[in-house]
Amino acid sequence: MSGIFSRTPKETEADAVYNPEGMIPVHVGIIMDGNGRWARSRGMPRAAGHRAGTKNIRRVLIEAVEIGIKALTVYAFSTENWARPKDEVNHLMRLISQGIRDELDELDARGVRILHSGRTAGVSESLQAEISEAVERTRQNDVITLNVAFNYGGRAEIVDAIKAIMQAGVRAEDVTEEMVSQHLYTPDLPDPDLIIRTGGEFRLSNFLIWQAAYAEFYSTPTYWPDFDEVELRKAVAVFQHRDRRFGKIKDTER
Ligand code: IPE
Ligand code: IPE
Ligand code: MG
Repeated sequence: MSGIFSRTPKETEADAVYNPEGMIPVHVGIIMDGNGRWARSRGMPRAAGHRAGTKNIRRVLIEAVEIGIKALTVYAFSTENWARPKDEVNHLMRLISQGIRDELDELDARGVRILHSGRTAGVSESLQAEISEAVERTRQNDVITLNVAFNYGGRAEIVDAIKAIMQAGVRAEDVTEEMVSQHLYTPDLPDPDLIIRTGGEFRLSNFLIWQAAYAEFYSTPTYWPDFDEVELRKAVAVFQHRDRRFGKIKDTER
């Protein structure tokens, strides 16, 4: 017998078990939040949290490949994060640059294709060059796509798309949703199926606001540096138990 009280969403999520044969999200977006609180909870400076958080990308990426996820977009730095203290901003810039330098060979060897979503304005020329090199070098790789949302804002992305469309001389009546999607930073990536946010908040903070229209949202209180393989499987398990309807009704209810 099934009744409205038989399965609350909460129970379903707590009990969700990962099924390797089940539906696997093709594109997963991760809002890597909680580095600062992770550090503070250990009596360490925020910078140590960002260092641990940057390191954690590797572990989650490897597990994503294992699960069969084809694209991972990680939110590394938002257009709003420039408002943080200069020291913290500089540290985050250095970590990105160092991360590329330390990891590029292995990422390339593992077949990871790197993409960048975001603006280049405000980013130092040397870092811009490092990002371009990473993207160029890994262009042909096809094991998984790692899209780094860096100096990224969803609203900025939509504004940039509108500018490109207008510059192409498209008439207002010819603008379509498909066209907008095709003018975003990563036109060849499918929309994300699942958005994970660590650190416990329930908001998008300007992340993939256009693309996430029908993404499933998952939030965990776990701080990003502690988000491990088990946590990723758990998020996918919850996703597998969601009922995606895309505005339609179920066939069984027709
Ligand atoms: C996420 O961690 C990393 C960035 C936003 C760059 P935070 O630095 O936001 O950590 P909390 O939210 O303050 O704990
Ligand atoms: C979102 O985290 C941005 C990144 C993870 C890069 P924030 O810490 O900046 O988000 P808010 O300020 O809590 O919304
Ligand atoms: Mg935060």
